[in-house]
Parts: sequence; C-alpha cells; structure tokens
Amino acid sequence: MSGNSEAVGLPLDALETPALCLDIDAYRRNVARMADYIVRQHGLGWRPHMKGQKAPELAKEAIAAGARGVTCATVYEAEVMVRAGVAGVLVANQIAGERKLARLARLQCTTPVMAATDSLDHARALDAAAQAGGVTIPVLIEVDIGMQRCGIAPGGTVAALAREIAGLRGLCFLGVMGWEGHTLAYGGDAKREQIAGAIGKLTASAEACRAAGIPVEIVSASGSGTFRLSAPLPGLTEVQAGGGVFSDLSYAKWGLDHEFALTVVTRVVSRPSPTRIIVDGGFKTMSVQHGQPRPLGLGAIKSLVLSAEHGNVELEQPNSAHRVGDLITFIPGYTDSTVCLHDELCVLRNGLLEAVWAIPGRTGRR
Ligand SMILES: Cc1ncc(COP(=O)(O)O)c(C=O)c1O
Repeated sequence: MSGNSEAVGLPLDALETPALCLDIDAYRRNVARMADYIVRQHGLGWRPHMKGQKAPELAKEAIAAGARGVTCATVYEAEVMVRAGVAGVLVANQIAGERKLARLARLQCTTPVMAATDSLDHARALDAAAQAGGVTIPVLIEVDIGMQRCGIAPGGTVAALAREIAGLRGLCFLGVMGWEGHTLAYGGDAKREQIAGAIGKLTASAEACRAAGIPVEIVSASGSGTFRLSAPLPGLTEVQAGGGVFSDLSYAKWGLDHEFALTVVTRVVSRPSPTRIIVDGGFKTMSVQHGQPRPLGLGAIKSLVLSAEHGNVELEQPNSAHRVGDLITFIPGYTDSTVCLHDELCVLRNGLLEAVWAIPGRTGRR
C-alpha cells in the first residue's frame, strides 16, 4: 500500500503517485443521474455491476442513492460485499468447481446471494452445493440474448430449464438475466434496434416461463452503455449498469454523457526532450483494454506508449511547462480494467484528499 492514507486532508499534489483518484462529487452526480433515470423515471430496480468498482463503499453509496443491491462477477467480489454488510447481491456469472460452489453456498448463511445458471448440469452442481451446505441458493437463468457468451437459448428452452430447477430442492428460481453487450458495437438507430431485439429475447423468455405457470420475479439486464435505451422498453424489472458511475473514454464512445469521475494521477519523472514527458504510470497502472487513457492539460499529443511503470508521452509541440515532479492526470480508457490494477482509491473533494478506500474486491482471488 502507498502512504496516501497519511495524506488525508492534504491537497492532490501531496499524493504518492501513481494514484487512482475519485472526484467524489462528480461520482455522486453520476450515481444520482443513474438512480434518477432507472429507479425514479422508469420504475425499475437498479443493481449496479461492481466488477469494475470493487470497493464496498461504492456499493453502499449506490444503495443509499436507491440501488436495490449489487451485481458481482465473482464469488470473491460477493464475499467482499456481504462481509461489508451489502445485501441484494447477484453473482451474474456461472460459478463452477466444488470449493467455490461451497463458498457461494456458505454466503447464503449471511444473506441470500443470487447466482446465474445456464444449464441443467450447472444447476445440479449448484443444487448439490446448496444441499451440502444446508441452504437454498436463489438462481436466475442466464439467457443468451445475442452476445454469444454464456446463456441458454431464449424462449421455451428457458421455461424447460426453469421447470427442472423448480424440481431441485437446493435452488429457488427467481427469474432471468441477460447482457446485451454485443450492442455496444452499434450506434444511432441500429443500436436502438439491436437493444430492443436483445431485450425482447429476454422478456419473451420470462413470458415463456410465466405461460408455463412458473412465476418470474426478476428480469435483469443492461449496462452503462445501453441502459438509457433499454430502461424504457417493457418487461425488464431491473438494470445492472455499473461502470457509468465513474465513466471513462469507452463509456463516452458508447454514448454515455457522464462526468469523468475517476482519474489516474501520475507524476513527471523525466523530461528527456522538449517534446517528451515520462510519467510514473504505465500499463501496470492504466489499462489499454478498449483504448488508451488520455492525459489532460498537455495539448495535442503525437503518441502515448505505456511500458510497465512508465508512460512515455510525445507532444506535438515542444513545451517546458511540465517539469519533473509535476502531476499529469489521465482519464482512463476503460475504468473496469484500470481499477483492478490498484489497491486503493483516493477520494478527493475540491482538490483535497478526503479518504483512502481499499479495493479488496480486486485481487487475483476469484
Ligand atoms: C453480466 C453483465 N451485466 C452488465 C454489464 C455492464 O456493466 P457496466 O455497466 O459496468 O459496463 C456487464 C459488463 O461486462 C456484464 O458482464
């Protein structure tokens, strides 16, 4: 860990760098906009995905703003949330392997944690873990609504699996989920149509269950790059959009107009030439998944090359303004794959360090 917890109350310049920083006021405005749109304007539940946020403080912020719980990607993330007292957790991935299933079952002793399943084989493994742990695991069936990742085919096949699950003593069928991630590749009317088509497959699957006499309480989908178009569609009960609370260059590309609340603050460590700036953040600090980060305040740049611990910026125009020791702030290309590179989040208000939050959900443990 860095010594940044000793810098609480001090200005940004006092931080040890590289530092993952959150402008708490901008973040809260993003959270409020999401809660307002999803919960108040569209009457849906909000269960923000924490895969890119990790810190339980952020889950609590969203819940205080109106979220009904959180979505997680791994058992470890769910454990972190439950340990922090967060309820309403959905693990939106298929968990496999006896020991990890046992951990998922154990969580149910503290609070119900929903799990995703997409096959009878997998449902039986979940059921076995639940029965061995003496608990019931609430489940959603994941439906492939076009992304071609996990998920069962939509429609009658979902109802057939739901019926099988109803016969498993350790499971409790609550509904269906899907993720229309493939629609991020589209823009304009094509995106709107793709999202409507994908969500239609999910809601038709829910209807197929209901027509077969199986109650469906939850119809869960959507992310930060799609929820503005999916929330007005009929049939969803909740939205999983998460990373929009930070926003970044990828979400902006996917049509989200939120403030950039999360940044990576680096320091100039070398000025080899008037057009070159070397900072103390490379690819172990800033992800290049979905696109490079963007430095602020440098004017036009020719290139940014990230090696492990160095960011090498080539400027279009020579400049002597940025000296060794000065701060250079970057907007992440993708916050999801950037947060997981850090142990802590420096929470800033009006340029002062207000708190340092651990990011316990980020480790190699799954
Ligand atoms: C299951 C699931 N739901 C929702 C999302 C969208 O998450 P976010 O809003 O953080 O982009 C994802 C993204 O990968 C996902 O895997």
